[in-house]
Amino acid sequence: MSAPVVIAIDGPAAAGKGTLARRLAAHLGYAYLDTGALYRLVALQLLLTGADPGDVTAAVTAAQNLDTSRFDDPQLRTDRVGAAASRIAALGEVRQALVGFQRQFAAHPPGKAPGAVLDGRDIGTVICPDAPVKLFVTASPPARARRRYLELIERGEAATEAEVLADLQARDTRDQTRASAPLRPAQDAHLLDTTNLAIDDAFAVALAAISGKIAT
Ligand code: DC
Repeated sequence: MSAPVVIAIDGPAAAGKGTLARRLAAHLGYAYLDTGALYRLVALQLLLTGADPGDVTAAVTAAQNLDTSRFDDPQLRTDRVGAAASRIAALGEVRQALVGFQRQFAAHPPGKAPGAVLDGRDIGTVICPDAPVKLFVTASPPARARRRYLELIERGEAATEAEVLADLQARDTRDQTRASAPLRPAQDAHLLDTTNLAIDDAFAVALAAISGKIAT
């Protein structure tokens, strides 16, 4: 049997990469891994046990003992967990501790799927640098803030659009300037700007970009 096909999708928060990745995976019959959820799981574990998100030893231990039964826990999606995850994601030791899980998923997708779609910040650059398909999904900060704001409001979380924008920009800076695996497009990534694209259009553009590389 041939090796599973890996699609690496990177980009900043709220650029639309999660929706796109899920949709591509469903279309192609591939397994999907939201790697941000791994950092969020570590953050949630620390918050639940009262440890500081800057505590490297506690964070590495949590990363080595991921409680994947909490993948669908709504607490993972809160701003509090997101903020702690962003701090944790800057710790090289934690990133290192999560590499194996991600590569194992890509090499052996659950359900013996013929491929895997992984989304995150460093999939095309660090986790799966040999992935045959790499997309780097972006959108303008105001467009991303608007989407994130609407999501938060729908979930009943209090926020203003200005706060969401400031928070996104602070996280972008942290993700792009950290020493370990900073957010940046892989050299061979296809850039996809979703600022003015509805999800159906973004999906069509992504499919067109990958269709020459794998059977779609
Ligand atoms: O995409 P997200 O908001 O769920 O990610 C949570 C945090 O984890 C965010 O600050 C970026 C970071 N992250 C990362 O550094 N590398 C990844 N592959 C995925 C997420």
